[in-house]
This record gives sequence, structure tokens and C-alpha cells, in this order.
Amino acid sequence: MNILEMIAKKQKKQELTKEEIEYFIEGYTKESIPDYQVAGLVMAIYINGMSMEETTNLTLAMANSGEVLDLTELGIVVDKHSTGGVGDKITLILMPIMSALGVPVAKMSGRGLGFTGGTADKLEAIPGYQTNLSIEKFKQNVKEIGISLITQTGNLAPADKKLYALRDAISCTDSIPLIASSIMSKKIASGASKIVLDVTCGNGAFMKTKEEAVELAKVMKQIGNLAGKETVCIITNMEEPLGYSVGNTLEIIETLEALKGNMLPDVKEVVLTLGSYILKLAGKGDNIEENKAKIEMCLLSNLAYEKFIELVEKQEGDASYCRHPNQLKKAEKFVYVTKQEEGYIKEMRAELIGKVACYLGAGRTKKEDSIDMTAGVILNKKVGDYVEKGEVIATLYTNDITKIEEARKRMEEAIKITEEKPKKEKMILEII
Ligand code: URA
Repeated sequence: MNILEMIAKKQKKQELTKEEIEYFIEGYTKESIPDYQVAGLVMAIYINGMSMEETTNLTLAMANSGEVLDLTELGIVVDKHSTGGVGDKITLILMPIMSALGVPVAKMSGRGLGFTGGTADKLEAIPGYQTNLSIEKFKQNVKEIGISLITQTGNLAPADKKLYALRDAISCTDSIPLIASSIMSKKIASGASKIVLDVTCGNGAFMKTKEEAVELAKVMKQIGNLAGKETVCIITNMEEPLGYSVGNTLEIIETLEALKGNMLPDVKEVVLTLGSYILKLAGKGDNIEENKAKIEMCLLSNLAYEKFIELVEKQEGDASYCRHPNQLKKAEKFVYVTKQEEGYIKEMRAELIGKVACYLGAGRTKKEDSIDMTAGVILNKKVGDYVEKGEVIATLYTNDITKIEEARKRMEEAIKITEEKPKKEKMILEII
């Protein structure tokens, strides 16, 4: 087999065989095929796409490039994954609720890259919390307390890790076959029996339109089903950031509030919808409305909040910060964002706000960058709210005073005001 012939085939929009795809993934993982040739092939795939069969073969080859976990001893593990967003703390809120309702939670989460945040980074904002556990310890924690949230181990779909970094470096991230195979390879390798996917859609997501999001969802669902893992995709709105905080410590504070039942309506709708489908797949009830009521009851009982505390303690975090969130330090410098006009907020562009949070120190632009856990953005208002001239719309936190003025300007540009009250957009766009 020859990588140059494969690049030429994809340039001519021809299909790669299963053997060719396995050859390229194995060669790339073992470094016998260099980055620049894989970059050529990835670019041809990005431009000319892949058939469903090619995408499935790519997914399976990437899943099998490292360790494939078997979690069957833990019961029906339903995995949850988001295709990425801004202010997306849904895993942190939802998974303790699921655990409190008797669904085993064994979840590996990614780190943030670019303008999107990552759950593993957010958990590390809790002093002491360990995200790097061995697989044995990970499973043991699930057996003992019903939940473990860790970062992806080094040997989970290593081909995806390399390809993802390469795609990022050559501007080939927003491709349906490449995103679908990237996400599904990790889900298959991490051993869950069923999968609920939050497919985000809007300016703060990889998929900018509903049509693209539906197409991505259909491809991922089909791959999941072919791999014998029942998969449900929920298309959610990512035009404005989710909830009121963007940034690691700030999102932990919002999570703790949410686990006590205090959630903004957008967060609540996503939590209830995703959660009710997870309960359904886990065999805890087929009726979606009844499942939503179970989640509401769970929040009222404080059980999910206590489960989160138990998780933090089990993973060596200092839970006193969770019991007293005001002890979690925010960055020292802050500035308010206002507008010189009054009216209704029409837009709060998630992508731009994610970039502002990153610029303030909350995210990475390169994998090796370190992040400032305490930096980020608080939204004091949301789309549809009325604001007076000069009223505080958002607060920016950073430890780097040199960035604060530029960040404030960029933030002002991300917010649009209108005289007419805008129609509130739906959060759940479609379920596939
Ligand atoms: N999340 C992933 O894991 N991979 C992608 O390609 C996009 C989002």
C-alpha cells in the first residue's frame, strides 16, 4: 500500500478501502507515515468528504489504535459527549444527577482547545481534584460511589489525538466525517454501551447551521448503531454562551449553584432533555416527561449536590471549596462591560465571548499553553433581557491587567442591542 496513491485517490474523489484506511491510521500512530503526508490526505478528505462506509472504517481504525475499554462489569454505562461549546458545564451538572438516580457514570472528558472549554480543566479548578486516574482506580470509584470523571488516558484512541492536533494546525477542524470519526472513535474506545450526544449548533459551535448539525448527528448515530451502541443525538442551540459563566473556576461556581437547583433556563432545558434520554437508554424509564420530573425531584432533594461532593472527595479534591464556593478565588482584576444605548439584548456571540475568555487567560490557543483557572467572563444579562444605558451586562476577570481594555472592547462588539424585544430562540432544536 502507498500513501501517495491514497492521497491521489482522495484528490480524485475516489473512495478509500477499509485496508487503506487501517494502513494509514496504523502508520500514522506508529509514526512510519510522516505528518506532512497525513496533512495532504486530511486536506483532500476535508475538501472532498468521505462516504458513510469510509467514515465508519476511519472511526473503527482510530478506536482500535489504542486501548479499548470494557466497562460491562459496571452495568449499563451511558456516555455523554458534547461537540463543543462556550460555557458548557452540562457534564458537571448532569452526571452527578444521573449517578444520584442510579445510572453508573464512568466518563472521560477532554480539555479545552481554542474558544471552547473542556470539562477536565474545569474539574482541576477545584484544588486537589485528580483527573489522571488509572483505569483500575477509575472503575473502582464507579463501583464504590457510582461516578468517576477523569481525563482521557494517553492510550485512548491515540490516532485521534494526533489527527485532532494536526487538523487544528492545518485548519481542517469543521469537517463532518472528521468530527464524527474523532468523537465516535473516543466513545467506542471508552467502553460505554450507549451514547447520548449533545450536538451543538450556532456561532459558538463547529456546526454553524442546523442542517450541518443534523447531518453530523445522523452520521454519528449511524456509526454508533453499526458499532452496537445505541446512540441518541440532541441538537442544542449554541448562539449565546450556555448559562452565565465562561471560565474554569467561574463555571464550577455556577455548577454548584445548579446542583442546588438554581439554573438559568437555558442550562436547565439542556440538563433535563439530555438527562431524560440518558435515563431512557439506561433502562430507568421510557417516558421522557416523567424522566424530567425525576431529575427535578433529584435536584430538590440535594442528592445530586451531595454526589458531586462525594466525587470531589473521592478524587482527592478539597470539598470545602465546594461547600463554601466563595472561597474559590476569582482573578484579582475585573472590569464591567456596558453599552452606551438602552434596549433589549439581541445577540451575545458565543464564539467571540469564548475567545475573550481565552484571551483573559481562561483557555489555550496551543495544546501546551497553561491556563489561568480564575479568569473568565460572567454574563450579568442574557439575550432577551432589557438593559439601561450604562447598566452592567458582563464582568471580565483576569490577572493580566494589560489585557483588560482590549478584552472589554472585544466583549462590547460581541453584544448587540435592539429596540424591539427579540424572540427567544429554542434551546433544543431537534432530537435524532
Ligand atoms: N470534539 C472532538 O472530540 N473532535 C472533534 O473533531 C470535534 C469536537
